Parts: sequence; structure tokens; C-alpha cells
Amino acid sequence: MISKRLKTLSDLVPEGTVACDIGTDHAYLPCELIKRGICQKVYACDIAKGPLKQAEKTISEAGYSTQIKTILCPGFSKVPEDANCMIIAGMGWKTIETILENDMARLNQFDVIILQSNRDVHLLRAWISRHHMTIIDEKVVEDAGKTYEIVCMTTQKHQNYSEFEIKYGPILLERRDHEFLEYLDRRILKNEQIASKVTDETKKSQLLAEIEEMKRIRQH
Ligand SMILES: C[S@@+](CC[C@H](N)C(=O)[O-])C[C@H]1O[C@@H](n2cnc3c(N)ncnc32)[C@H](O)[C@@H]1O
Repeated sequence: MISKRLKTLSDLVPEGTVACDIGTDHAYLPCELIKRGICQKVYACDIAKGPLKQAEKTISEAGYSTQIKTILCPGFSKVPEDANCMIIAGMGWKTIETILENDMARLNQFDVIILQSNRDVHLLRAWISRHHMTIIDEKVVEDAGKTYEIVCMTTQKHQNYSEFEIKYGPILLERRDHEFLEYLDRRILKNEQIASKVTDETKKSQLLAEIEEMKRIRQH
């Protein structure tokens, strides 16, 4: 059974695209994309031989060896030009940033780039904003007690996002779906628990201000 996080990532891949999954590990996502008929062709890429061997095992056991091609390479450096959707998920922001910046000139080839950083999603949005690119979709997913934010972008020109949008996500703020609102509720509760124990007054007032900010979004 595929995880809820990977299932949500597969939901965001546009039908009919040629996808490349960067840092594919077991190739669970490429197999899901073929299984659901979302893609007819997927590139499963990884920088390390061990994960790629695992990927090849998963792919051949699923019978998808003709549709999924494995590539051993850093980032998307050896991804062919027909790929028009890229997914980079399950890594830290610094690794994702390095992958994107190593081949900035080629980002244009993708109609959509789906990013899921395990931490520091605000830094990911700040990067998109700094490069005047566009956030086209966002999703929050809770999976096995952890919450993940997924950001879909294109290289299409966009004005800078505000600090508020970078912190919470422009599409999440606009759409206010229940996963996002429940995520805010969990963050409010967590901050309240921390604030009740913190003795440093500056830290405490920062936490309280953030709680109020999240409550305002919640009630909006
Ligand atoms: C934690 S796994 C994530 C697997 C999958 N993407 C997911 O979301 O579950 C990270 C994988 O990324 C690979 N990786 C790390 N840095 C990479 C890079 N610069 N280029 C390609 N793959 C990389 C690792 O070898 C590992 O298999």
C-alpha cells in the first residue's frame, strides 16, 4: 500500500505528462503513476546505486519495465528532454535547492514542478518568490502523524510573494481546504503548549503573536 503522502503527490501529476521522479528510492511513486494510468512513461532517477537497485526490483515486480526507465544521476542532469513534469519529494530543502540550482536553465522544460520538502517549506516558497516563479497549487497532507506541505510551481513569471504568503502558502490561504485548517489547529495547539512552558518573555510573545495570526486565518 502506497503512503498517503505519495498518493497525494501522484494526485498532483497532470494526466498524460511524462514525469521524472528525482530521488526515487524504491520507485513507489513512478509505479503508482503507471498503475493509475496518469502517465504512460516515467523516469525514476536517483543519485545512489543502492536505491536505484531497489527501484528496479519494484518496477520489474510490478511489470512496468517498459514504461519506467531508471536513471543513475544527480538531480535531473540526465533526464531526457521529453519529461515535462518533475517531482522532487521526501528530502530536505537544501538538497532540493541544490538539485534545482544545478540545472536552473533547464527548469523551463517542465510544465509543472512538484516539490515536497520535509522541512523549511517557507524557504522553498521564498526561493520561488526570489526567482519570480509561480506557485500553481499547494496541498497539506497528514500521514502517519506527520504533516507535509506540497508545493507545485512553474517557471512562469510572477511578482514576489508576501512574507505572509511565503509563511503559510498563497494557494493554501486562498483555498482554505480542511486539511490546511486542521493543520493550523494542530500548530495553534502545539504553540499554546510550548508557550505555557516558555519562560523567556520575548520567545513567549513571539509564540503568542503567531497563535493570534493563525487564529485570525482560521476565523477569516
Ligand atoms: C528519503 S528518499 C525519498 C524517496 C522518495 N522521493 C519519497 O518521497 O519517498 C531520498 C532519495 O533521494 C536520493 N537523493 C538524494 N540526493 C539526491 C540528488 N542530489 N539527486 C538525486 N537523488 C538524490 C537518495 O539517494 C534517496 O534515495
